[in-house]
Amino acid sequence: MKISTILFASPMAKDIEHIFNSKKVAGDKQFRFRTEEEVTEDDYKWADAFIAFKRPPNFSFGNIKWVHSFGAGVDKILKDIDWKEDVLLTRTVCSFGQRMSEYCLSYILRDVQNHLRYEKMQAEKNWKLAAPTPLQEKQAVVYGTGVIGREVAETLASFGMTVYGVSLSGTQKEPFRKVYSSKEPLNDAVAEANYVINTMPLTNETRKVLNKDVLTRWTDAVFINVGRGESVDNEALLQALDNGHIRQAVLDVFESEPLPQDDPFWSHPKVIVTPHISAVTTPEEGVDCFLNTLYKLENGEAVGNAVDLNRGF
Ligand code: GLV
Repeated sequence: MKISTILFASPMAKDIEHIFNSKKVAGDKQFRFRTEEEVTEDDYKWADAFIAFKRPPNFSFGNIKWVHSFGAGVDKILKDIDWKEDVLLTRTVCSFGQRMSEYCLSYILRDVQNHLRYEKMQAEKNWKLAAPTPLQEKQAVVYGTGVIGREVAETLASFGMTVYGVSLSGTQKEPFRKVYSSKEPLNDAVAEANYVINTMPLTNETRKVLNKDVLTRWTDAVFINVGRGESVDNEALLQALDNGHIRQAVLDVFESEPLPQDDPFWSHPKVIVTPHISAVTTPEEGVDCFLNTLYKLENGEAVGNAVDLNRGF
C-alpha cells in the first residue's frame, strides 16, 4: 500500500507534530496534525491515512485507505458505522500488556501483602503477626486471551499464580491452565478464583459479559477491570459487592468517562476508581507503533495489528 498523505486527529496533535519534526521522518510524505475538533471534510478527502483515538463526529471515509487507532480498543472508531470494507483498520498495542500487567499486579500485591492492614496497625502502634499470603496460593481468571490478556496471564503465572482464561471461543492457549468459553457456564475451579481480571475489548459479543450470573459465581474475589466498562453490568457488580461475591472492585474503565460526579462507584467503600490509566498511549509509543505499521504496509509485510472487522478487535 502506498501512503503519501497522513492525517492525525488527536488531542496529542502538537506533541506528535513535535516528534515528527525532531525525528525528521517526513521523506516524501505530507502530514496534517489536527485536534479532533479541527479536522475538516477537506482533510478526509486529502488523506490516504487517518490516525486517531476515536472517530470525530464529522468523519467521512473521503479517500482514506487506512485508519490507524492510537488505542488498543477500536470500539469508538467502529461504533455505529458501516465500515468500508476496503479500508484497513489497525490498532496500537505496543507496551499495553506490560502496563496492564503492572497495574493488575500492583493491586494484587497490595491485597496479598496486606498493605492497608499494616498501615492501620502502624497508626495504632500495633505489633501483631499477620503473614502475607504467597501468590503461589492464589488463582486468577483473566477474561480475554488476546495479546494483552496473555501478557497479564504470563506476568501473574511467573509469580506462581494459577491463571485460567475466558474467551469467546474457549480456544486453549499458553500460559493459561485452561481456557473456558464465555458462552458456557464457568466450572467450579474457576469459581474459586481470588482475582477476576477483565481485559476484553468492547464488541457486541463482550457487552455485559460480566453479568449477574457470572459475578455471583465468585465468593470473595477481587475484580479488576482494565478492559471496557460496557462489558460489566454495573447493577450486578454493585449487588455482588454488597453480598460479598466480590470483595473489592478495582475499576479503571467505565461505561461513561469521565466517571460522572454522582456515580456510586466514586464513594463505594469496596471500590477503587482510577481514571483510565492502566495503559495510556504516550505520543512517543503511538508514533512508533504507527511508523512500524506504515513501514510494514509500504513494504508489503504482514501487519500483526490489523483489526478483524467481523470480530471488532
Ligand atoms: C485504551 O483504553 C485503549 O484502547 O488503548
